[in-house]
Amino acid sequence: MTDVSAPSLRARKRRHGSAPVVMITAYDEPTARYADAAGVDVLLVGDSLANVVLGHEDTLHVSVDEMAHHVRAVAAARPRAHIVADMPWLSYHVGIDAAVANAGILIRAGAQSVKLEGGAIRRDVVRALIEAEIPVMGHLGLTPQSVLAFGGYKVQGKTRDAAKLLVEDALVLQGEGVYALVVEGVPALVGAQLTLALDIPTIGIGAGPDTDGQVLVIHDVVGLTKNPPAKFVRRYADLGVAITDAVSRYALDVRNGTFPAVTESYDNPAELLD
Ligand code: KIV
Repeated sequence: MTDVSAPSLRARKRRHGSAPVVMITAYDEPTARYADAAGVDVLLVGDSLANVVLGHEDTLHVSVDEMAHHVRAVAAARPRAHIVADMPWLSYHVGIDAAVANAGILIRAGAQSVKLEGGAIRRDVVRALIEAEIPVMGHLGLTPQSVLAFGGYKVQGKTRDAAKLLVEDALVLQGEGVYALVVEGVPALVGAQLTLALDIPTIGIGAGPDTDGQVLVIHDVVGLTKNPPAKFVRRYADLGVAITDAVSRYALDVRNGTFPAVTESYDNPAELLD
């Protein structure tokens, strides 16, 4: 059990003096360990696993079992941070019982809560999960599982009506008991408005500076993605370049016979020397 619980996160409103919630994705044990050592509050085993790690085009190509596999790896780091797992596409769209069972698989794999996308349309699922004692994080705005329905990755909430609908959806989710809300890909003013309207914390990604916390995909942060980063990403390292450099130098050393050196080889027992 990690130190940061869903109820403790629920209380993290900046307007009540709380520090912003720091959330970042993680998909494996070493990444979770390094991110946790940096003191983040929440590790998200995101369904971005599909495109960031598994090389798919979008987040629609990942199953509950694949998510559970990576939740187990993150949990193996025994982080202080809270672990939230994304419910992948179709794991909560085809029946309430299936949704609860799928969330249970992610919890048994090591998550402390689950995240799902959508507003009022998902209220029954959210209620059932919470009745099953599973804390739920909501996700509104540019919800990547809606990429086909949206016709691409398009900033949401750009009209007064669309923004109003987002606030209504957020209030429904809050009413059903979600403990926090990810707000993705909306104008900064909409991020601020949602944050003002809600008593639960908002965690923004491309939602401006006024949300109660921020989340980014770790591969974007450390420079391991193949596409140019989105506008909202701040890159803090260039590990892709560092990896290619390290592997190139290793390849050179193998090819010119300088690796391994004597110090990198096991000693020969006297008996073998005879
Ligand atoms: O899967 C993911 O990485 C996410 C973030 C974009 C919030 O849901």
